[in-house]
Amino acid sequence: MAKTIGIIAIKGGVGKTTVATSLATDLANHYDKKVLLVDANFSAPNLGLHMDILEPEKTIHHILDKKIHAKSAVIEKFGVDVIPGDYVYNRELPVLKLKDKLASLKDSYDFVVLDSSPSLNDEVFSTILASDVLFVVTTPDYPTLSCTIKAAKLARQRGRPIAGIIINKIRDPRYELNIHDIEESLDIPVVARIPDDKQALRSLFTRIPLPVYKKNSPLSKEINRLNAALTRNKEKKSFIQSIMPFDFKKERINRELLKDSFYSKTFKH
Ligand SMILES: Nc1ncnc2c1ncn2[C@@H]1O[C@H](COP(=O)(O)OP(=O)(O)O)[C@@H](O)[C@H]1O
Ligand SMILES: [Mg+2]
Repeated sequence: MAKTIGIIAIKGGVGKTTVATSLATDLANHYDKKVLLVDANFSAPNLGLHMDILEPEKTIHHILDKKIHAKSAVIEKFGVDVIPGDYVYNRELPVLKLKDKLASLKDSYDFVVLDSSPSLNDEVFSTILASDVLFVVTTPDYPTLSCTIKAAKLARQRGRPIAGIIINKIRDPRYELNIHDIEESLDIPVVARIPDDKQALRSLFTRIPLPVYKKNSPLSKEINRLNAALTRNKEKKSFIQSIMPFDFKKERINRELLKDSFYSKTFKH
């Protein structure tokens, strides 16, 4: 039975879709996992634009609208099964049914990855409720952190505590919040620190997710380290890291702890 991972943030542009597509394609291509990736950003779906799906015929919108069975909307891309969104659907949908609608597919996968909406309404709740484990993406600045605090509170209220923070787009640590500031404000471990990655622009332009487009880019490498924890593998280390007797990187220690907690009861329903 698959573990469903929800990628949330109550802010657009922080990198939810980039992280969701990268996690999914890395798990499939570099850890040989069966992965279903779903666009749960119902009012502004754009997962397809990251995954080279431009004109999907069947979508998560049709599934929620009871028009089709979930399985029939699956499209295989970059080794991942994808259920895209409909770019122009404008009818009211029972979005909180997402979990029920995906239930029949869970047996066929190792992981289901949900790319969520930033809207602070039923759209983000649908992902929170459908997930076994949540990661919140934040950028290292005060305005985004304040939204991230809100997201963490919401998830806790719904009984789905966030398993880890993913800090994305780190540009100049001298002028940004550091890992300690962020962990202290949220009381949640940081499990990945992703630098601003020039290749992200190229990846989006070519519509090839970064772990497939350039597996050695900084973003791809950090996602691969996070996935090592999610699949209980050892992280790949550079030569320098492998000869260092100790590694004090806080996020690396947090990922080691995540390896156990991810499969423990705490994060199950
Ligand atoms: N680590 C990164 N470095 C550089 N650009 C990034 C990074 N992560 C995401 N981006 C870019 O930021 C933009 C918004 O990312 P996206 O994943 O669509 O955010 P969201 O889903 O949260 O709205 C995209 O242009 C994407 O390529
Ligand atoms: Mg998005």
